[in-house]
Amino acid sequence: MKVLVIGSGGREHAIVWKIAQSKRVEKIYCAPGNAGISQIAECVPIAAMELEKLAGFAEEKKIDLTVVGMDDPLCAGIVDVFEKRGLRVFGPRKNAAILEGSKAFSKDLMKKYEIPTAAYEVFDSAEAALAYIENAKTPIVLKADGLALGKGVLICNTREEAKDGIKELMTDKKFGSAGDRIVIEEFMTGREVSVLSFVDGKNIKIMTSAQDHKRAKDNDEGLNTGGMGTFSPSPFYTPEIDDFCKKYIYQKTVDAMRAEGREFKGIIFFGLMLTENGPRVLEYNARFGDPETQVVLPRMENDIVDVFEACIDGTLDRIDLRFSDNAAVCVVLASDGYPEHYEKGKEIKGLERFDKEDGYFCFHAGTKLDGGKFLTNGGRVLGVTALGKDLFEARANAYKATEWVEFDNKYMRHDIGKAIG
Ligand code: AMP
Ligand code: GLY
Repeated sequence: MKVLVIGSGGREHAIVWKIAQSKRVEKIYCAPGNAGISQIAECVPIAAMELEKLAGFAEEKKIDLTVVGMDDPLCAGIVDVFEKRGLRVFGPRKNAAILEGSKAFSKDLMKKYEIPTAAYEVFDSAEAALAYIENAKTPIVLKADGLALGKGVLICNTREEAKDGIKELMTDKKFGSAGDRIVIEEFMTGREVSVLSFVDGKNIKIMTSAQDHKRAKDNDEGLNTGGMGTFSPSPFYTPEIDDFCKKYIYQKTVDAMRAEGREFKGIIFFGLMLTENGPRVLEYNARFGDPETQVVLPRMENDIVDVFEACIDGTLDRIDLRFSDNAAVCVVLASDGYPEHYEKGKEIKGLERFDKEDGYFCFHAGTKLDGGKFLTNGGRVLGVTALGKDLFEARANAYKATEWVEFDNKYMRHDIGKAIG
């Protein structure tokens, strides 16, 4: 089989790595990919949003299966474009990717189908939103309706902050048209857990749980980032919580999408908060998480190509999805200064060690090759992942492996997976 993966981050490197384990696959392409991905797949210089060009490439190369890693092309309708040309593709169509693409849509869906989530209101004008804030309780949460690179959520501690936030999103349009409409939501507290799942339109199979560390600095201080590290499984995701979510959240979401005429095939990523009153959905994503994928896929025992195909064919009920009874930790190596100002173009050394050691992976996020040398090329550079028999061991292994890699301005958090007990 020939497979094409669309995207260029650490998530896509992990997806490509997992596909490369499949005995059924003889060739993998990745568009546009990155330097790490280029070691195991052929990278193709087509951007993820060049939908027709990507479909043209898939036709020309007779690609048997395309897997879309990123949210932007999914929300823009890449699956519809491929299907129209009779190409096999894994991911939700545009009318289903809206589950991630519009927060107002997903909140309304949860309300209509009684899926537990925070109380909220939707606003299309800054005046109405500002008027609502006058009598609202704080802290309060503002969310841009559309895609905003994971940055369109503002937690406001005071009414003044909330008013400034509304202006930022709706009047100054900090996230462009994503802020034409906003959701104002009740603030919740509790542990956060990421649960990824495969969905075939009717059936859903849950992967193992994971947890992300979003803040730039130790002890959850500093700015929000795309994710500084992850661990899997989450010890807080107990069998009782799993039962609750299976009963009130997972299948209900899939059924709700079907009932709305928006059959969902692909990945649903449930961002959950474990509150005092039980699990609540913080958000849905219509794709794998980054960097959750880097700890979830190394623990998955199935041939992932079989699972992708079962989702497309509506036969997921025949798949016995299995994860190893171990743990994984991913520590992101970033460029110092991320997520604000940082330098790029630093030479990375020590990567060859990962090819020699079992249970250790170095997934590339922001790197490039220059004359045979790997250079840093982004804020988040690498995701160093290690397995262990439990989280404690996986964490020790991951931090040991971070020392194998050297580059100027290397920065990481030192407490990934630490807030475990
Ligand atoms: P989202 O993109 O919706 O996952 O939001 C990003 C982050 O903001 C989440 O991971 C939470 O840490 C936080 N967040 C979102 N909604 C709420 C809420 N209603 N209460 C408290 N924190 C929230
Ligand atoms: N790690 C969070 C996300 O992928 O959205």
